[in-house]
Amino acid sequence: MTIVAGVLAPHPPHLVYAENPPQNEPRSEGGWEELRWGYERLRNSLKPRDYDVIIVHSPHWRTHVGTHFLGVPHFSGLSVDPIFPNLFRYRYDLQVDVELAEAIAAQATAGGLHTEMMRNPQFRVDYGTIISCHLVNPAWDKPIVAISSNRSYYQYSNEVGNTQMLALGEATRIAVEKLGRRAVLLASNSLSHRHFTTESEVPEDMSREHVASHANYLWDMRVLERMRRGECRQLLDEMPDFIEQALSECKEGSLSWLIGALGVPDYAATVHAYGTVIGTGNAVVEWDPSRRKA
Ligand SMILES: [Fe+2]
Repeated sequence: MTIVAGVLAPHPPHLVYAENPPQNEPRSEGGWEELRWGYERLRNSLKPRDYDVIIVHSPHWRTHVGTHFLGVPHFSGLSVDPIFPNLFRYRYDLQVDVELAEAIAAQATAGGLHTEMMRNPQFRVDYGTIISCHLVNPAWDKPIVAISSNRSYYQYSNEVGNTQMLALGEATRIAVEKLGRRAVLLASNSLSHRHFTTESEVPEDMSREHVASHANYLWDMRVLERMRRGECRQLLDEMPDFIEQALSECKEGSLSWLIGALGVPDYAATVHAYGTVIGTGNAVVEWDPSRRKA
């Protein structure tokens, strides 16, 4: 077993803001505890398992021609969320497992996907990658592989997008196994994604936080039940409708990539938390491949 865990690890900047880590400039009074405690439960669950690298697929590195991979060993800089610069101004400093990134890209290319390596050392790493990695491993003591979101769901269809992401997931798994890495995989997307268009004066005022609509809540629960029951095949079948009806951020492909890398799990996932952030549905969910049925 070389994929140690697969995680749905959403990236609302509010969760980092609420934690007050030294890297982030703005200060908060807390907020969104259920999700933050869920991330804490996830970190405790991963602790006994040794791993070498975190591989993250992020909705906010958007590439229009193929799938791109960070291809420089070290990146640092200031990441500012374009929508919430009041909440997220974060100094990052991260290492990349370039050998593994190149191996995944080569495997994906061999499988018919178009890939590119990002070789610009000045490249500003996207906030989805940074936030998911921070919440899973705030010590930043593991290298990462970062994968972009190609636009196939938008340019073609949800079905084409899913097909490509399943292939990318499979290529990821094969490359991880070839190199013998022990990897934790992160799908950085939220679930339902209709959000409020105004912000309260105190962003962490939890009296204002709730899901954007009952319909979105029902969709999120349906999707989480599929995960809890080990019904990922059915979840993939329903995902095009989920994307359209709940405006799901699954449209960026991260979750389908993860499901593909895990070989479409038929075993139960652990839901560490569900909560909303400015009305969007977010869950921290872990798949442990050692639970795969023989
Ligand atoms: Fe996002």
